[in-house]
Order: sequence, then structure tokens, then C-alpha cells
Amino acid sequence: MEPNLILTGFMGTGKTTVGQLIAQRLGRTFVDTDQWIEARAGKSVAAIFAEDGEDRFRAWEAEACEALSEPQGLIIATGGWTLGPQQNREAMQRGGRVMCLWAEPDAILARLSDKSDRPLLAGDDRAAKLRDLLKKREAVYRSFAWQIDTTKMDVAEVMLHIMALYGSISGSAEPDAFYLPMGERNNSVLLGAGLLESIGPVLRARGLRGTAALIGDSNVIEHHGDRVYQSLLLSGFEVVPLRVPAGEESKTLDMAGMVYEQLVQGGLERSGMIVALGGGVIGDLSGFVAATYLRGVPWVNCATTLLAMVDASIGGKTGVDLPSGKNLVGAFHPPLVTVSDLTVLRTLPEREFQSGLAEVIKAGVIGDVDLFEMIEGGSTDVQDIIRRSIQVKVDVVREDPFEKGRRAALNLGHTIGHGIEAASQFLLRHGEAIGIGMIAEAKIAERMGLAHSDLSGRIEAVIEKVGLPTRYANLETDTIVQLMRSDKKKQLGRLKFALPRDIGEVAVGIDVKDELVREAIEVVRDE
Ligand SMILES: NC(=O)c1ccc[n+]([C@@H]2O[C@H](COP(=O)([O-])OP(=O)(O)OC[C@H]3O[C@@H](n4cnc5c(N)ncnc54)[C@H](O)[C@@H]3O)[C@@H](O)[C@H]2O)c1
Ligand SMILES: [Zn+2]
Repeated sequence: MEPNLILTGFMGTGKTTVGQLIAQRLGRTFVDTDQWIEARAGKSVAAIFAEDGEDRFRAWEAEACEALSEPQGLIIATGGWTLGPQQNREAMQRGGRVMCLWAEPDAILARLSDKSDRPLLAGDDRAAKLRDLLKKREAVYRSFAWQIDTTKMDVAEVMLHIMALYGSISGSAEPDAFYLPMGERNNSVLLGAGLLESIGPVLRARGLRGTAALIGDSNVIEHHGDRVYQSLLLSGFEVVPLRVPAGEESKTLDMAGMVYEQLVQGGLERSGMIVALGGGVIGDLSGFVAATYLRGVPWVNCATTLLAMVDASIGGKTGVDLPSGKNLVGAFHPPLVTVSDLTVLRTLPEREFQSGLAEVIKAGVIGDVDLFEMIEGGSTDVQDIIRRSIQVKVDVVREDPFEKGRRAALNLGHTIGHGIEAASQFLLRHGEAIGIGMIAEAKIAERMGLAHSDLSGRIEAVIEKVGLPTRYANLETDTIVQLMRSDKKKQLGRLKFALPRDIGEVAVGIDVKDELVREAIEVVRDE
């Protein structure tokens, strides 16, 4: 049987109207959960609220979700908060694809102005109540993978975008979805297999249109460029493809300048967008360009390395390098969506994959003991490993979106690691240096009595297990220390460390004596 198509979202986003139209168009049965409940309760939703209370109504909703959890090709419109509870959401997802319709409060108010049958908005000052309720629920609504932003669409457009999206995704498994609020903006993250082929419908449904500049590096465009290009084109985007040379050398102001020029020539306006396809280099460069071109255009980050999936593509930090150091110029500009399609990892060179595993191990040490133990146990469940790593990053960034405190935990292994990476003149991959940095910093934590005495051994064992180096060779302590100091994360001239207390627990803002730093750097040197 075909999967159901379930439309959810706040009142006034058009779930019922659009659901009925789609059912007609596809010759499917339409079910409205409110009507389903009314038929069984023998009274109206308003009467259930008034006579039996909201709790009784929510219990009815849970029953409806259970009853409609088989794939039967139904088109279902839910109540505004039917899928608030996790168990209802899971029940509906068993039977089909849940799409969440969104609209900005003003658009909703305009649509609801002639209706008075909304029990949750009863009484005075509907506008304030509505804004308040929408704000409270926003994180849940935005956490669904499939989003339709109906704010600027009429009913016919909403219907077309939903049908295109449903057609494109109904054959593949439900992706993992994350939502990260970032001040005025927010960053959704999708993780699954085969997402790149659906990127056009996904972005159209989120309200994007016009010109899409597709930026990739030579390797990635070669392997996966066409998948994205075709999907965007088929969804009606005008696509301007841009290819930059692979490697950190492309993360410069000069390269950004060249990209700006090509965007102007390609006619990219404020209404357009940038689609980055690549690892951390392409993400950082494209995001920086998106933050600054025409004072900011929306962008989408298709992460193609493990490192980008678990770390670089999430949280909105973008930037380029200067001759005097990495990431010295940048902006917070989160992508509207991060798309991590697992299938791209098939072409990723082994060494790059291993490098990404260092960030996975870091995520485990920062906040997920189970993840760390999965790696210790040799797990090969790549999606679960990535899902968990993303969750750690999302949780940390959510607490501290603009890096004022807690987010410094993500620098674990990076203070010494960056020094080693730079001293090797980037012959060591980022993750290789970070792995060694984590071991050295765990040694410091032990020496300072922050961690128990076998923590560094445990971290070292797991780094070795995944095939990453645990020692560097042929680098001077002085060079490493000097390069650590030119790293941008120092405060008032003193380096602050993020140090592990245990697996799953990190202390931030730690001042470490110079001798101790030098000693730790020497411990991880291969003699
Ligand atoms: N913004 C952030 O929060 C953040 C966080 C961590 C790291 N970073 C940045 O990320 C960058 C490193 O990212 P990276 O390790 O992804 O490097 P990268 O982007 O250079 O990619 C590594 C190599 O793999 C190739 N490649 C990428 N995906 C591929 C695929 N699917 N198949 C085949 N080849 C593929 C690339 O062409 C490149 O040669 C650094 O510049 C770092 O500063 C940023
Ligand atoms: Zn890193």
C-alpha cells in the first residue's frame, strides 16, 4: 500500500483545505482527525473541550493516530497539536510521510480573521494569544523533516509543492531531522540516504525560489554535482553552477571575491540562494559568501564529508582563512537547511572518513557516553554514529548559539590539535591532529586532577582503534606552542582549554600552566 500523506502544523496553515484538494486530485481518501474524533465522540471538538476538557481531547487524538498508523494511501490532516506528543508523531510516521505546514503569524491571523471556532484562541486579544502559542510550539513544528512554508503561497502552490515533495520522497526511508534555533534564523538538519535527489522539491516547499548558485569543489561536483543540479533544475530553479578547486587553499578572501563576481554575472539576487555541496571547506566558504553577498542571502549546506556532517555544517559558523591564520574572517550565518546524504560517503576517501571520526570521538567525549562506547566496540552503524554526533553538536550550540560559553566545549582537542595541525603545515588532516590533541589535553586534565588517571588511555585506545595516529613526528614544541597562541580562541593573551573530566563531560575556560602544556605536547611526540 502507498504511504499515507499526513499534513500537520498550526491552525490556519491550510492543512484541511489542501489535504482535501490533494485527495481529490490523487483519488485518495481524505481523513481529518478532528472529524474522525467528532464522529466517534458524537460531539464537536468545541463541545469535547467544553464538556470533557482538553485532556480528553488529547486522548482522542492519540487514539486517532494509532488507528491511522497503517500505510493505506490516505491523505490525513491533523489537528494543530495532534503530533505534539512524540508517540503520536511516531504512530503517524509508521504509516506515511508527515509534512509540517508553516506560516508566519501575520499570515495566519489574516487567514483566521473570519473564523471563530478555535477553542484555544477563545476570548480577547487573539493576535497575542496566537503569537504566544505559535512561539511555544515552533521548535516542535520545525523539527519535522518535511516543511512547507505557506506564508507567501496560495492554496494551489501549496498543493503543488506538497505533491512534488511527496512524489519525490515517498519511496525512501524517513530521514533524521534536527532543529537548531539561532537567534533570528534557524538551522534545520536532515540526515538520510538519497536526500540529494529530493533537494529541489525540499527547497521549493520551504519557500525558496529563483536562482540557485550551486557551489562545489572539483572532486565533489565530479561525483555528486549532477544529482543536485538535476533536482534543482527539475524543480524550476535557475541553476548557476560554480566550481572551486578542492582543498583548504580555496578558503580565502580572493576566492570569495571570485565567487561574488560569478554570482553577479549569474544574476543571483537577494531572492535567490546559495547551495553548497562539499566538505567543511566548501561549507565555510559558501556560507561566508552567503553571509556577505548583497548583505546576506539564504543558503543550504549539503555536507559531503563525515567531518562536515557531524561538525562543520551545523551551527552557523562560516569563514575564510587569512595568510596569518585559519578562520580569521567570518560570520555567524546558519544555513536554512543542512542536508547530509549518507550515500555521498561511498566516494569519500578513507583518510577523510577517518579524519571525521576524530570529531565523532570528540562528540562522544563531550556529551554522549553511548556514542563513545559504540566506537570502542567497533560499531559500523554509520547513520546512528552520525545521528548521535549531530545531536551532541545541536545540544551544545542550542545552549550557546553565539559561542559565549558552553560552546567552547567543542574546542576539545583543538587547542593543542590546531597547533599540531598548523605545525605540520597541514600535512596532517584536521581530524588526525585533533585526535592527537585530544590525547594531549586528556593528559593535562589528568595532571591537573580534573580527570581520573586512565582517561587519556581510554581516549587514546579508541583513536588508535579507528586507525587515526596517536602521535606526531618531527615537529618542535616551540613551533606548536607558538602556533597555538596565534589561534583565535585565546582570551586576553591566555589560552583557555576545554578539558575532559570524563567520557561525556567537559570543563571549559580552563587556564593551564605553560609547563604543563609543553609537557603534554611532548608526551604525544613519536620519539
Ligand atoms: N564552520 C565550522 O563550524 C567548522 C567546524 C569544523 C571544521 N570546519 C572547517 O572545515 C574544513 C575541513 O573540512 P573537510 O575535512 O570536510 O575538508 P574538505 O572540504 O577539504 O574535504 C576534504 C576532501 O574530500 C573531498 N571530498 C569531499 N566530499 C567528498 C565525497 N563525498 N567524495 C569524494 N571526495 C570528497 C574534497 O574535495 C577534499 O579534497 C576546515 O577548513 C575547517 O576549518 C568548519
Ligand atoms: Zn574540528
